[in-house]
Amino acid sequence: IKKVAAIPVALYGGRHAVTMLPGGGIGPELMGYVREVFKYAGAPVDFEVVEIGDENTDLEYALTSIKRNGVAIKGNIETKSESASVVSRNVAIRNELDLFVNVLHCKSYPGVPARQKDIDIVIIRQNTEGEYAMLEHESVDGVIESMKVVTTSNSDRVARFAFEYAKKNGRKKVTTIHKANIMKLSDGLFLETSKRIAKDYPEIEHNDMIIDNCCMQLVSKPHQFDVMIMTNLYGSIVSNVVCGLIGGAGLLSGKNYGDHYAIFEPGTRNTGTAIAGKNIANPIAMLSASVAMLKHLGHTQHAELIQRAIEKTICEEKIHTPDLGGTAKSTDVVQRIIDNILQADIRPW
Ligand code: NAI
Repeated sequence: IKKVAAIPVALYGGRHAVTMLPGGGIGPELMGYVREVFKYAGAPVDFEVVEIGDENTDLEYALTSIKRNGVAIKGNIETKSESASVVSRNVAIRNELDLFVNVLHCKSYPGVPARQKDIDIVIIRQNTEGEYAMLEHESVDGVIESMKVVTTSNSDRVARFAFEYAKKNGRKKVTTIHKANIMKLSDGLFLETSKRIAKDYPEIEHNDMIIDNCCMQLVSKPHQFDVMIMTNLYGSIVSNVVCGLIGGAGLLSGKNYGDHYAIFEPGTRNTGTAIAGKNIANPIAMLSASVAMLKHLGHTQHAELIQRAIEKTICEEKIHTPDLGGTAKSTDVVQRIIDNILQADIRPW
């Protein structure tokens, strides 16, 4: 199968250029922390910052920049307008770049307060169609129709991505999440496609579960899940549930891949507008996104250095922002991560 999101060729001296889209809410402050941490870690990345926070900003420049660099790190853009003609720019970017799959690795941080311990679940989500087709209309007065689009080609490549991911990462089981008992054609196609692809991977167990039961099982017995695949909206909801189980919106990163490009962002994709500018946002989700980005670019040692510094800060030293029950400011956490980066004992080289 084709390699997903080809890795861009490094510039002179092994450096990479990466598009940085700060977005709205807490995005800009979190990006500032990423830049500080990269400076002290010596990460060989040059950021091309493109502002997309304002609803009237043209996306063309951002898209051109991502197409040129191949990789972006992104905050979220709030879609405030209720007018049907204003499409979500987050969705527009993913669709335009054909980032057909979103990967959220939900792994507990030992030592961080959470509702469930030792979670290790990978959510693989169709990222460009389903309920996010944005095809809605009022057929007659008072009757709205909203289309959910499911295609064989996209279901096929998401399922194949999931099984390949499971195989490469030593995972044992893939669970397809659906509502094929009610949405017999759309979710039925998604489910049948995953069953067909599963036959090519006899070493990996495959089962399926309806989305309603899945939500209950996640809250009560989450350890039964390994890799999960699902359509777009279920993916967003389930990602938020699992992030809630392990400590909230401020910890995990999400990876968006297509055949040509990759975008890294906080896993739950929310803007955190109410906490912006207060120095209380948890910086870990965006820093984790930056670690995932470094791994993708092949800068594994710098990724490892920042990851170890994050773990030392939040798991061992327990420097936590208020969302984790702590009293540290965002800048205290970042400062401690930088202090840890500068300690020779955690350097992978
Ligand atoms: P929100 O931005 O209000 O965040 C939800 C909760 O998580 C809040 O209590 C917030 O303080 C907390 N939170 C988020 N990031 C945090 C961090 N880094 N540190 C500490 N606490 C953090 O979320 P809401 O209402 O879900 O979304 C706001 C906007 O984000 C929406 O209008 C939408 O445009 C966008 N969005 C949200 C998505 C989601 O999955 N929640 C998905 C896509 C877009």
